[in-house]
Amino acid sequence: VVSVDLGQEGKPISADLHGIFFEDLNFAADGGLYAELVENRSFEFSSADRRGWDALTGWKLVERDGGRGEVVVEANQPLHSNNPHYAVLGVVNGEGEVGVENGGYHGLAVTEGDAYDFSVFARQVAGAGGPLVVLLESAAGDELARLELAAPSGAWTKLSGELAPNATVDDARLVVLSRGVGRVALDMISLFPRDTFHGRKNGLRKDLAQAIADLEPKFVRFPGGCLVHGDGLDNMYRWQDTIGPVHERRSQRNIWRYHQSLGLGYFEYFQFCEDIGAKPVPVVPAGVCCQNAGASVTRKWGQGQRGIPLDEMPAYTEEVLDLIEFANGPADSRWGAKRAAMGHPEPFGLEYLGVGNEDHITPEFEERFRQIHDAVTAAHPEIVVIGTVGPAPDGPDYEEGWRIANQLKVAMVDEHYYRPPNWFHDNLQRYDSYDRARSAVYLGEYAAHDDRRRRTLRAALAEAAYLTHLERNADIVRLASYAPLLGKIGHTQWDPNLIYFTNREVRLTPSYHVQRMFSNTSGDIYLACESELPLSVVRDSGSGQVFLKLVNATDADRRLSLELAGWETFASAARVKTLAPAADGPPLPRESTLDLSDAIDYTAPASSLTVIELSR
Ligand code: AHR
Repeated sequence: VVSVDLGQEGKPISADLHGIFFEDLNFAADGGLYAELVENRSFEFSSADRRGWDALTGWKLVERDGGRGEVVVEANQPLHSNNPHYAVLGVVNGEGEVGVENGGYHGLAVTEGDAYDFSVFARQVAGAGGPLVVLLESAAGDELARLELAAPSGAWTKLSGELAPNATVDDARLVVLSRGVGRVALDMISLFPRDTFHGRKNGLRKDLAQAIADLEPKFVRFPGGCLVHGDGLDNMYRWQDTIGPVHERRSQRNIWRYHQSLGLGYFEYFQFCEDIGAKPVPVVPAGVCCQNAGASVTRKWGQGQRGIPLDEMPAYTEEVLDLIEFANGPADSRWGAKRAAMGHPEPFGLEYLGVGNEDHITPEFEERFRQIHDAVTAAHPEIVVIGTVGPAPDGPDYEEGWRIANQLKVAMVDEHYYRPPNWFHDNLQRYDSYDRARSAVYLGEYAAHDDRRRRTLRAALAEAAYLTHLERNADIVRLASYAPLLGKIGHTQWDPNLIYFTNREVRLTPSYHVQRMFSNTSGDIYLACESELPLSVVRDSGSGQVFLKLVNATDADRRLSLELAGWETFASAARVKTLAPAADGPPLPRESTLDLSDAIDYTAPASSLTVIELSR
């Protein structure tokens, strides 16, 4: 029997519970969500990113029809000091064609008839030079699109135009040729689909962004993960380096062994949140790097500086306060003016700020966290500061993190755990006993990891069962996000992820469907209910709708009687969505209807999640 009194007052819960966690891991940003198609557009890749890489990674010299030339990397007269390297193409003779070509991130997928915006900063260094010719070609050498640009002058100038390919290919190459003997400097060689998500310049890949938007996340946590604190002071994620014109941003080594262009930076994150109606949850480093450069990190990367030197902490703390001003300050404030200059005079409405990511809770951490926490809460009592309690749901970091949270009365703490499906089923009471007088919880990273980390329905249903328990406890667990979000097929550093993709396709996992089914039916009131199976019932007080979410993770169908007191006040046909194994392919949510009555006979299929939507 499943019984619930639909007319009860219920318990207020967080309307922000269901959100997402984004990190540039698995080529989630560069080569993924960030729509730039050119790999290493600014010639800043290096062996620090990945062994064997250098400033010309992704690029090849083109010499055709007797043309002779060379390409080198220089840094003596850069476009901007944050973007020090650029290519210099030397054309030795006036014959044939000389240029550079780029094959994109794991291929360059273009679609017939779509418009692509090409741009380059160019400067004629020596010789007369000549016009630039830009081509899109297929791997076989067929010309897909052509663009002629003016001859560069002696000063850095941005040249741009449109390319519209005449065929759809996944392995195109972008070729930039210089017509004329001499040396021409090239930087920020960029190719963007015109059709980005919400038509944003420097925007996001439409299909991927839409798959995220379809989750209707109530918040987006960004930019990570371990990416936030980096594994050394050199690649801590410093938000100020990620705003302003893209050619002035300081790109850097990605902790996940590739390069982050930071073209998707803080402004773009805030804008994306706004575009999908989600609250931004930025996470800043707590002044220390990955696990405080503990033993394993030290073995790998050497004994670096573990944290920002204490005498630099006041300036760093100021940087964190500046972020709040960038997000929320008036357009005539120092940082609000930078936001306005980027095209957004209105504030972004920041409510939450994460400080630290699953750090090892050492004295170095505590000292720095305390300084940031105290400064933010003093200057901005309206901001909910989210602290961290380490990488696991128990253990010394967890205990120490909670000790600090209790001492400082941190508004919310971030818990993380990746565990086998059974762990989730065994912990369906975890938050029932959490002390409501202490810090609230943000379950910032979790996922059920099945054998060999496969993306199974079994794992997804363990997460679904856990989500019923999170909703029941969403008076104390205010935010939760599955992790990680995106993984590029063939190029992952971490599995499983919620959404997989290639340059052309988006593939959704069973866990994605579970997240979507819960998030699309979220509420702000929890209704007490009884059931032998994991169940949660929430009401959305705005629409008056009530959502029942029922998980049958067993391998047998379960025949149930649904006793829904007060059902008469709802439309007589309820919408039902069921995620269950399918005979003809991967599990996908299927829709049906259910006629309401005093006692409804409902069979929850084996291995299923059912969501029943009652509308007025
Ligand atoms: O989600 C992947 C990684 O898992 C995150 O970067 C880190 O916070 C955690 O260890």
